[in-house]
Amino acid sequence: MNRPSMLRMTALLLSGLVAHQVATAENTSAKPWDDAALINNNKIKAFSGSPDKKQLDRLIAEGRRLFSASFTITDGVGRPMATQAIIPTKRKRPPKNEFARTAGLDANACSSCHNLPVMGGAGDFVANVFVSEGFQLADFDSTDPQFSNERNTNHLFGAGLIELLAREMSAELRALRNQGLKQARSSGDIVSVKLVTKGVHFGKLEIAPDGVVDTRKLEGIDTDLVIKPFSQKGVITSLRQFTVNALNHHHGMQASERFGARWTGTNDFDEDGVDKEISAGDVSALVLWQASLEPPVVNTLIPPNWQAAAARGSAQFDQLGCNSCHQRTLPLNSLSFNDPGPLDAAGTLRSDELGTALNARYNLALMDWAEALEKDDQGRWLVPLFGDLKRHTIADTQVDTLGNELLSQRFVERNVFMTSELWGIGSTAPYGHRGDLTTLNEVISAHGGDARDSRDAYVKLTESDKSDITAFLKTLVIAQ
Ligand code: HEC
Ligand code: HEC
Repeated sequence: MNRPSMLRMTALLLSGLVAHQVATAENTSAKPWDDAALINNNKIKAFSGSPDKKQLDRLIAEGRRLFSASFTITDGVGRPMATQAIIPTKRKRPPKNEFARTAGLDANACSSCHNLPVMGGAGDFVANVFVSEGFQLADFDSTDPQFSNERNTNHLFGAGLIELLAREMSAELRALRNQGLKQARSSGDIVSVKLVTKGVHFGKLEIAPDGVVDTRKLEGIDTDLVIKPFSQKGVITSLRQFTVNALNHHHGMQASERFGARWTGTNDFDEDGVDKEISAGDVSALVLWQASLEPPVVNTLIPPNWQAAAARGSAQFDQLGCNSCHQRTLPLNSLSFNDPGPLDAAGTLRSDELGTALNARYNLALMDWAEALEKDDQGRWLVPLFGDLKRHTIADTQVDTLGNELLSQRFVERNVFMTSELWGIGSTAPYGHRGDLTTLNEVISAHGGDARDSRDAYVKLTESDKSDITAFLKTLVIAQ
């Protein structure tokens, strides 16, 4: 083992130790051989205010422990009388087998799937998820695409920065709409508002003096003007919403903020005999751990011939117009990660929601990795995501590999997906939303629809030029 990885090992062991001490300190009755991952259901307390570095590290350690915890029936694993649907939905009768690779329960821990090359990372084809949102049969037992959309696990590194970018962009788009409304009212004319935020274009709105907003010319975003940066479809608003969904879908662990008495009239909606399975504080710890993950980096410890090929590939990437969607950086004003966030809909806690006990401001600038982020001349952090947080048509009749889904999710067209962020792509084979493409060349050649011109130009390159692009993309890695 080399020195950096030994140091990392020690750090990991130490953080495990700290997490354990925190947990046991709060519940002295917990025994090392207890069956519960949540330490005798001793829920993490909700946090309010701005934690200092020490408190932040402690919460992150708690979240890390939960992300890797193999949940058990003592914790509340299982949902005999509830489906995997995002909106609390009852089953008619309990399924014969609660664990099923297709409709779920499909794993024991979050880290069962998010583990390549390290925890929080992506997943192999074997870790694919069959997303049905419960609008089809709750108990489908086939991987046939008429029942579910099969998705490969994506990595979570830099996820906090992605959510912050999306929040700022959503706020800016809504401000543009409000300005347009005012202008239309005062001028008495129809006003056309171009929706551009951080250099990304989302089409336009036509606003009438009476306040009617025509949304038909929007591009790559929903009519609520909320950017939904999570899931490859681009339909999930926040880490918090995704975490509450995932806990129920994969593990049958139901968060009180969605499945609790407030919305369902009971504290045991899934009828597995365990009340209040996941507290708001548990969700916050999970969210914070994900939000604090170091953004992917550029691998510079490579031989000179790889350096040279990567430099050529990087230039090609721009010449081919790949960067029109995979934008190298987007600027971020603030590293303050407020939890709960401002944009979620009912069923996921929101910051201004009545009765929300927690209202924390986590300063991601306190993270060790924050120093390495570059800034622009206006002092904004440049997030090197290689994406635009926008949805695009990515298949057409000739190039249709990525148009392989039969079910529309949230009424987004079936051949439309959000631009994948390419940071970390050198660590996350296989590729494509289904994870069935084994090389970068395959997935780039599979771009159709809005990316067709760029893809055609790529396909015409010489083999050596193509391999330069691969060399470049393979320098974008998850730090280990
Ligand atoms: C069975 C495998 C599996 C398990 C277990 C799993 N995930 Fe995932 N995760 C996925 C897949 C697949 C996706 C991509 C979904 C999509 O694109 O529709 C994903 C996506 C995500 C995303 C969105 C990332 C992005 O950039 O779009 C978050 C956040 C996430 N998972 C969190 C969690 C948490 C928290 C847990 C545990 C409670 C968890 N996951 C458990 C497979 C899994
Ligand atoms: C019109 C926008 C657009 C353009 C232009 C574009 N892409 Fe993409 N790219 C996407 C979308 C959308 C996806 C997600 C595809 C899917 O559903 O799996 C993607 C996915 C990818 C992936 C796979 C990511 C993963 O995690 O599996 C790679 C690699 C990639 N693009 C590279 C390129 C390269 C190289 C170019 C230029 C030749 C390019 N892209 C041009 C939109 C675009």
